[in-house]
This record gives sequence, structure tokens and C-alpha cells, in this order.
Amino acid sequence: MACVVLVGAQWGDEGKGKVTDFLAGKAAVVVRFQGGNNAGHTVVVDGEEFKLHLLPSGILYPGKSCVIGNGVVIDPPVLMAELADLSTRLSVTGNLFISPRAHLIMPYHRLLDRLEEEMRAGKIGTTARGIGPAYTDKIRRTGIRVADLLDREEFAARLADILAEKNEILTRVYGAEPLDYNAVVEEYLAYGDFLRPYVADPGVLVTAALDRGQGVLFEGAQGTLLDIDHGTYPYVTSSSPTAAGACLGAGIGPTLIDRVIGVAKAYTTRVGGGPFPTELYDEMGEHLREVGHEFGTTTGRPRRCGWLDAVALRYAVRVNGLHSLAVVKLDVLTGIPKLRIGVAYRYRNEVLTGFPPSLKVLADCSVEYEEMPGWHEDITGVRTVAGLPANARRYLARLTELTGAPVSIVGVGSSREQTLVADPDLFS
Ligand code: GDP
Ligand code: IMO
Ligand code: MG
Repeated sequence: MACVVLVGAQWGDEGKGKVTDFLAGKAAVVVRFQGGNNAGHTVVVDGEEFKLHLLPSGILYPGKSCVIGNGVVIDPPVLMAELADLSTRLSVTGNLFISPRAHLIMPYHRLLDRLEEEMRAGKIGTTARGIGPAYTDKIRRTGIRVADLLDREEFAARLADILAEKNEILTRVYGAEPLDYNAVVEEYLAYGDFLRPYVADPGVLVTAALDRGQGVLFEGAQGTLLDIDHGTYPYVTSSSPTAAGACLGAGIGPTLIDRVIGVAKAYTTRVGGGPFPTELYDEMGEHLREVGHEFGTTTGRPRRCGWLDAVALRYAVRVNGLHSLAVVKLDVLTGIPKLRIGVAYRYRNEVLTGFPPSLKVLADCSVEYEEMPGWHEDITGVRTVAGLPANARRYLARLTELTGAPVSIVGVGSSREQTLVADPDLFS
């Protein structure tokens, strides 16, 4: 396998964990390049369910190199808890490497995420994990990186400066309690000791693996429509989940990437606030939520559900330069007599040609649907695309026509073996 970037093509929770786990079998290195523990990636192996938040999904394979890139924001106690949990469930896991340039989530980031959200008129519905405030500090050059934590004096001095300002904001803007400097220093220096043995440069690891002819897999978190630049701003996350983010977030050049795959559900979900044109408010939405178990992996919130949105997917194909789509959860559509696909947005009397940048326009769009006949056969035991019912194959073929991207992988269940390969060159 070459150098593959896997991204979410919708609003997150597409099944990136499952597809990463499937492809990781053929890769030597798996890299997370953005986001933090706002992500919740579910992988089911031999009937056992793993929910990964910060660790790359390749960690479930013994000896695989798993990298947390500079573009990720790391909450150290979350990482420690995740590693500790895995060690009780697996005898051997992958080898973890962490970029010294990755930024840290600090206690004030978690507090501010909640306080800012409370004050916000249009609630984003963040995961309250401190993600937005941590990326804000990165961009305004008041962040603290893993490398800064490893130098005890540097860390103590930098935190003194930063915490003084944060305490002003916490107390004077939000009327909250200030944080105790000594307690934070002590807590984080202990995390530094924990992180130290894992620190390595991801760019060096990735290029060395590629030089050896080994496969490298980049595991996106969140999704295209949650991208800070290309998503439904401001109802987005604060990082770059699109394919270009893999370069920035791991320290490699775009010339190294051979293939980009977008993961999409056979329908659409969204968790949190913001417009969602194909959202269903009726029993069909409820049906998709129940059958698809659409409840957040990180926060447990019920996910909003709707029909497949080919307009949004076509946009994701372009923004990421997708070579193909991995379409999962096709099994969830089984038994629905008439399936609908959103094929165009109409705003007032005009059919829009692209995905609108204005949220006001997006929120006021009506969707034009195409109807397709469904199938009733149980497909969870099907292992080849040719073995799918004709109407399921037609549904996938229509998706390709509408988005311009071939389907390379199909998911018919949550476990590793319920993954069908539609592209014979997938692993070349
Ligand atoms: P991620 O954040 O993109 O990794 O996705 P999540 O793990 O948050 O949500 C996807 C959910 O769908 C998980 O519970 C997966 O186990 C499940 N899943 C993934 N692929 C399939 C599939 O093909 N069929 C079914 N029924 N479930 C799937
Ligand atoms: P995975 O990797 C789905 C959503 C939140 C909220 C918005 C901003 O599992 O697909 P944040 O905490 O990032 O500032 O929240 O983004 N969100 C996700 N939705 N899947 C995710 O991750 C998400 N990570 C963040 O619900 O609307
Ligand atoms: Mg998820």
C-alpha cells in the first residue's frame, strides 16, 4: 500500500475508525494529523468494541507504528487513560510516537470551551473537550507544545505568562474561579515525564517508511463539512480535517500522497448545531438513528439523521481531491422501500451549482431529491460487491454518477470483515 489519506466526507462519524482499521492491516504507519479527543472512532475486532479518541486506529495491531502528528491537540490525561485502558484489553498494541510540535490542551482550554459555549448565542454544540480554545491559542501564539513541556524551566516560565492572562479572562469575563499556577505546573510536568519516551518527529517516520516501500495511512478526524476553512462555518471544528491537513499536520509535502479516500455513510448524520439540508425530522430520521445506532461516540448525544446529500458529497470530492469513496453503513438502509438522495439545492427560484458559503443561504435551501428503489435482503453477510442486491449496487452506482468519485470500499456492518473491497487496486 502506498501513502493514503483517509478523510471524513460529511459531518464526522462517517466510520473513519472502521475503515482505517481495515486498511491499517496493509500499512506500516498510521498517523492522526488533526483534531483531538473531540474525535470518537469506533473499531470492532472479533466482536469487541474499541472507542479511540486520540490514538490512531492502527494501535489495535501489534507492533504497528502509530503517530500523533503536530496538527493534533493532545490532552495528556486523556491519552494516558486511553493507553491504560488498551493495556488492560490487549496484550500487545502498536508503538506510539508523538510529535514534539503538537499542542497541548490545558485545563483552562476545557473550562473556556464550556464558558464560551454558554455565552454564545448560536450554540455550536462543541464536544466541550477544549479543542477550539487550544487551537485558538496555537494560532494566537500562546499555545504550549509537547516540546515546551519537556523543558521544565521553559514550561514553568511560559505557563506563568499565559496563565496570568487566562485567569484574568476566567475571573473578569466569566466570573469563574482562577486556576492555581503551582498545581497546573506540577500536574503538567508529570505528564511531560509520561510523554517524553514517545516523542519523535512524524515527518521523519513517515518519509523513512515510504523510502522503505512501506504503506502509510493518514487517519482524518471529524469531516469535510466541519473543516475550519471549507465547512459550514462557524458550525465547524477548529482544525483542518480535509486532505490538505494531512501535510500540515504531519510535516510532509503533498507530493508524497498517492491516494485520497473519503469515508461517507450511505445516508447523512450530524451532531451539534448548524444547517443540515437533508435532515429528517420524521419517523424516517428516527428509524435511521435507531437502526444505525446514531449516538455520539464521544458525548453520547443523539445524532441528527437525514438522507444522503450528493451535493455536499460532490463538494467533498472536490475540496479533498478524492480518488474514491468508502461508503459504509449500507446495511442500515436495508428494508427501506424507497430511498432518497439529495441531488440539488434550490435557493428561492435558483438551483445552486455548488455548496453555498453563506450559512443563511444554506439554511434556507430546499433540497431536490431523486428516489431510488431499496432492497430488503439482509446484506450483513455479503462479502463481495457483486453479491449485493441489484438495487444496492444501483444506489452505489448512482452515487458515483452524482459525485464523480468511484466507490472503492463498502461497509455492511461494524466489524472488520464486514468491509467489501470494490476497487481491485485498493492495496497496490
Ligand atoms: P468515525 O468517528 O468516523 O470513526 O465514526 P464513529 O465510530 O463515530 O461512528 C461510526 C459508527 O458506525 C460506529 O459505531 C461504527 O462501529 C459503525 N459502523 C462503521 N461502519 C459500519 C457499517 O458498514 N455498518 C454498520 N451497521 N455500522 C458501521
Ligand atoms: P469524529 O472524528 C462528529 C462537532 C461537534 C460540534 C463541532 C465543534 O468522531 O468524526 P469541537 O468540540 O470540535 O469544537 O466541536 O464539531 N464534532 C464532531 N462531530 N464527529 C466528530 O469527530 C466531531 N468532532 C467534533 O459536535 O458540532
Ligand atoms: Mg466519531
